[in-house]
Amino acid sequence: MPKTQSPAIDLGPAEKILSEMKNTEPDSLIPILQKLQEAYGYLPVPVLKWVSGQTGIPTSRMHGVITFYTQFHTKPHGRHTVRICEGTACHVKGSPRISERISKELEIEPGATTKDMRFTFEIVACMGTCFLAPVMMVDEDYYGQLKPDKIKSILEKYE
Ligand code: FES
Repeated sequence: MPKTQSPAIDLGPAEKILSEMKNTEPDSLIPILQKLQEAYGYLPVPVLKWVSGQTGIPTSRMHGVITFYTQFHTKPHGRHTVRICEGTACHVKGSPRISERISKELEIEPGATTKDMRFTFEIVACMGTCFLAPVMMVDEDYYGQLKPDKIKSILEKYE
């Protein structure tokens, strides 16, 4: 078998997950991804490629599922996820100013994770709570009718 240029990622957890989920069918993809993310904290691309080789599930199918569900991440992810909505209603009500303030407080751009792995900051489309516009989520908590000045004290609640 040719040696792959795999970084130093331990495939042991992935092997264990697949052996526990024998008779893997394509429909098992979401549970596999959930278990892999639980084990690694995110979905490392080399692990996905290895799982693809073992199961025959194409990486393109994995990628489609990963991008569809916000729960999945292919990069190391912070302990908390800050999501700011930039859907139309939130945009009109000032979400860009909220985003700027979050970036300033966390010293990262959207899509990034703080060095201490405390927060990952994401921009998302309409979260279906337009009546709260502009709205932000931290993990499962919603914060609506936000003003930039509230951001610092909200973020301080999350260690
Ligand atoms: S546009 Fe932000 S929740 Fe709908």
